[in-house]
Amino acid sequence: MDFERVYDRRKDGSIKWNRYEEGVIPLWVADMDFEVAGPIREAFRQYMDTAIYGYAMPPAALAHTVTAWIREHYQWEIQKEWIVWLPSVLSGLGTAARYISATPYAVMTSIPVYRPFLDIGEAEGRTLQAIPLKPGSWTMDFEAMEAAVTPDTRMYILCNPHNPTGRMYSREELEELAAFCRKHNILICSDEIHADLVLDPEKRHIPIASLSPEVAAHTISLFSAAKAFNIPALGSAFAIIPDAGHRKGFEKIRLHTVPHMTLLAGSVCNAAYGESGPWLEAALAYLRANHDFLWEEINKIPGLKMSRQEATYLAWIDYSGLGITDFAAHLEKYGVGVMEASIFMGEGYIRLNFATQRHVLEEAVRRIRKAVEDL
Ligand SMILES: Cc1ncc(COP(=O)(O)O)c(C=O)c1O
Repeated sequence: MDFERVYDRRKDGSIKWNRYEEGVIPLWVADMDFEVAGPIREAFRQYMDTAIYGYAMPPAALAHTVTAWIREHYQWEIQKEWIVWLPSVLSGLGTAARYISATPYAVMTSIPVYRPFLDIGEAEGRTLQAIPLKPGSWTMDFEAMEAAVTPDTRMYILCNPHNPTGRMYSREELEELAAFCRKHNILICSDEIHADLVLDPEKRHIPIASLSPEVAAHTISLFSAAKAFNIPALGSAFAIIPDAGHRKGFEKIRLHTVPHMTLLAGSVCNAAYGESGPWLEAALAYLRANHDFLWEEINKIPGLKMSRQEATYLAWIDYSGLGITDFAAHLEKYGVGVMEASIFMGEGYIRLNFATQRHVLEEAVRRIRKAVEDL
């Protein structure tokens, strides 16, 4: 577990490292510059030794591994039958949206938010209802949601923990959201891909569907080993759909639109949740230290503000004090590649991925300081 080890990810076709000119430190898309856990590499090796790559089921142990992880980490007891294996979280989100779009309808979400939510909300004739979170606290604005909801509003896409703000919604907020959705008969599609990246050691992730069986029956929850175990290329995601009717409807669409989870994906997913817990603990310790370093340094730069974040390795940095627009474009000229808030329907912020080697982050901070000084 050497998180300091540097790889030349450019030669590996990394999207993160090939987006910018050489010399720009890429701190944008959400993957980590860390080598994966040993058990995951071992699962991969074993897969390579398989001589015939036919249609395959996920490993028999996987459902048990996943239900045990969910019980231990989120105190949620699920049935194996509720799980639908997926190659990615976004394919699950797209499937959920198609499943309930028999009639024209609207999709609500709170912004700023992970960009594809907005695209999926608008695709295939759907209407997007993008309700701003309360700036700064990034809590949900239930009054605005009540004002915007219509009989066409059929799905709410939740992002918890939240990308890009790094917040974990409180139990009270989740309860209020669940009550709102039940009142208006809105299905919740909850993207919990960042569930295992909790930075605040005092906090525990709460899946919205774990609130009660009634909420679970109204929810499609999406999880994945991709973010926490740094294997987004390997396709190890799953939906948890307790309601048999919703599950059947979802499966019917998934069958002809989304490929099966491969044996490779199932094997690495099993190795991740089943054997890579110690690696994740070590990665979280490294990420927490990076977070604290970044938080201290960013808040020393006049015009920039960063709140302590509860989850994810994506820092949400307020640059509204600088009096400029498109800070990301300015930073790129100084050799730092980050994402501008407008991508998430926000403004005055950048999102910075700090899941990289400390010395790389230190250099990025030096460049950010210089970029601000030169304004
Ligand atoms: C909130 C959120 N959902 C989904 C994804 C993408 O997941 P997948 O590659 O499994 O579709 C990301 C990736 O950054 C994300 O941040």
